[in-house]
Amino acid sequence: MKIARFSRLGFILAAAGSAVGLGNIWKFPYITGEYGGGAFVLVYLFTVLLIGFSIMIAEMFIGYMGRKDGVTSFEELAPKNKNLWKLGGFQGLAGLFIMIFYSVVIGWIFNYIVSSLIYLPSSVKEAELTFTTMLHSDFLTQLFYHSVAFLWITYVLTKGIKSGIERLNFYLMPTLILILLGMFIYATTLDSFSKAVEFMFSPDWSKINSEAFVTAVGHAFFTLSLGMGAIMTYSASMEKNSNLVKNAFWVVFLDTTIAIVAGLMLFTFLYQYGSGPAKGPGLVFISLPSAFYEMGILGNFFAVIFFIALAFAGLTSSVSLVEPMVQYFIDRFNWSRLRASVSMGLFFYLFGIVAILSNIDGYEELLTWGDKNFFDWVDYITAAIMLPFGGLIMAIFVGFVIEKQRVEAVLKPQLGFAFEAWYFSLRYITPVAMFIVMLNLMGVV
Ligand code: TRP
Repeated sequence: MKIARFSRLGFILAAAGSAVGLGNIWKFPYITGEYGGGAFVLVYLFTVLLIGFSIMIAEMFIGYMGRKDGVTSFEELAPKNKNLWKLGGFQGLAGLFIMIFYSVVIGWIFNYIVSSLIYLPSSVKEAELTFTTMLHSDFLTQLFYHSVAFLWITYVLTKGIKSGIERLNFYLMPTLILILLGMFIYATTLDSFSKAVEFMFSPDWSKINSEAFVTAVGHAFFTLSLGMGAIMTYSASMEKNSNLVKNAFWVVFLDTTIAIVAGLMLFTFLYQYGSGPAKGPGLVFISLPSAFYEMGILGNFFAVIFFIALAFAGLTSSVSLVEPMVQYFIDRFNWSRLRASVSMGLFFYLFGIVAILSNIDGYEELLTWGDKNFFDWVDYITAAIMLPFGGLIMAIFVGFVIEKQRVEAVLKPQLGFAFEAWYFSLRYITPVAMFIVMLNLMGVV
């Protein structure tokens, strides 16, 4: 059987497509707002380079060497205790869990694309009402757009690596970049652009505490799609003789640049037309639409293309969140791609409906345990526990379990003199950082 592999550019686009997601355009700006701007951005850049880049190379290495689904790759590369290490591959489950709420959020974005064509809220208050009404009482609208997201994502997955995933990214990623760049260039012509630059780059170190630091590390992970085998699974379909370090560099570079460009653009609009750097998850769904309203008809246009870009970012990430488990059932159980894609799709679709219900008045109490409803629990368990844990496992696996000569043989020629520094970071800096993040997010420290 001929094995489908990404082309060189195809791989970079697909991996960057996975990395560039709601994390960059929706989450990064609002956490930057929460932690006061410049200093947080610098800490984030530092962790991306030191920790994110290291793990990215390690995760690519496992997939590239294993050439199979995550479970099989771990199993084959472990020199001993294969049955224990293969559990590392089940990190792919985290992706399916993330999809439970990710698909719902993509549904909200679809809804905003359509509604922004004719309507923008005239004040932050009104915008908030629009958003919370959808969230708490409009089950059918959310269900409808969640279904559209499910169908689209599942369809792409049934088409496989080449004509599904590679093709999707080939069209969506350049479009996304063009839209953001266009809006960014427009933003540079506005007076408030300098305010946005100042907000994002002049550090106020008094705002940095341990929580900001932990958030930055956690986000570096999420935004680069690390810790659950998405990058690993894609890397199994990398061309032979690929340069992992170069590929990792491009993915990190694109992901970071897009987050910064999106942040500068959004903050410019919020300074110019809105209420300044809004905080919290409502930033793109609440503050932004009311800022667009102030721009008149141009605002409708910007709102529509902005939400299209956001939807594209979400869709290309989604396929990477589901693909690890699809690959698993294909490789280990000989399922057809169709069967594997549809089954995994139905899994996140059905639980996604529960996630929608858990925000709807009348059902919310039923689906709330402790201080979180089902939607928030899924978000919390994946981001706070599963991803950092996955990253920890991968760092230990490549740093201590796989024989050093094996790692050296592939990566030393690519990393050159930086090899030892990378290896050290993987063995000591990364695991300690991940451990601290996990403890902190779980509320232990
Ligand atoms: N990186 C994506 C974002 O920024 C989300 C994502 C996609 C992800 N695949 C992942 C996060 C794998 C963790 C692991 O939105």
